[in-house]
Amino acid sequence: MAIGIFDSGVGGLTVYQKIADHFPNLDIHYLGDTARVPYGSRSKETVINYSLQCAGFLIENFDIDTIVVACNTASSYAIDQIKEKYGVNVIGVVEPGAKLAIQTTSNNSIGVIGTRATVRSESYVTALKNIYNEITVEQVACPLFVPIVEEMLVDTDIAKQVVKHYIDGLSATGIDTLILGCTHYPLLKETISKSYPNLKIVDSSEAIIECINKLNIDTNQNGVREIYLTDESPAFETLKNVLAGGLTSKKAILSC
Ligand code: DGL
Repeated sequence: MAIGIFDSGVGGLTVYQKIADHFPNLDIHYLGDTARVPYGSRSKETVINYSLQCAGFLIENFDIDTIVVACNTASSYAIDQIKEKYGVNVIGVVEPGAKLAIQTTSNNSIGVIGTRATVRSESYVTALKNIYNEITVEQVACPLFVPIVEEMLVDTDIAKQVVKHYIDGLSATGIDTLILGCTHYPLLKETISKSYPNLKIVDSSEAIIECINKLNIDTNQNGVREIYLTDESPAFETLKNVLAGGLTSKKAILSC
């Protein structure tokens, strides 16, 4: 049995990379819905509908027993629906990220950055408060971060200014920990930490490995690696070199 990972686009390759590096023999099929990215500006209903189609593509085409929802926006809205429809293991990034943030904070004050849809869903607020009800959570949507990463402007003055624009106010609230609640943001981690050296930065995808380990699935397979995209993606051409040189993609056709 293999693992299927999906994301709204290619940002989820940050999650793919972590899993692929950690489990070299695991069979992994990745789907990036590049034809319909971004999910972060869409309604709850649309995100659920797209997410079910992405999971369906992976489950119907491959021998999948576990779906990793790399996309924070999809993780915020569609985990229960995927579980219910397909009856497979489903791992999202929100709960593991929240758990890691609670383990990281010293002053119980946590910031969350993500897409507009993720922030609107309050998924991280709920997950954090479910673990520790007294936690203080501040959120900010950072819609300009995704295009900055996709245009590979991460280490530029533009990126620094946009980081300042979104995070100055958040940092002033007294948070000591910041959750990167979007697939693309790990690529801005260095830029953020340089500007805010006192913030402890939590990358939600880092907690995924522990979740896979807990499932006790057989990770000793043939190391198959397949990347499917629903449309051509200039961002894939950029990110594949930054993350894992040599990746190629195949065209995916989703059934609606
Ligand atoms: N993958 C999305 C997320 O992690 C970011 C890109 C989008 O808006 O679709 O929320």
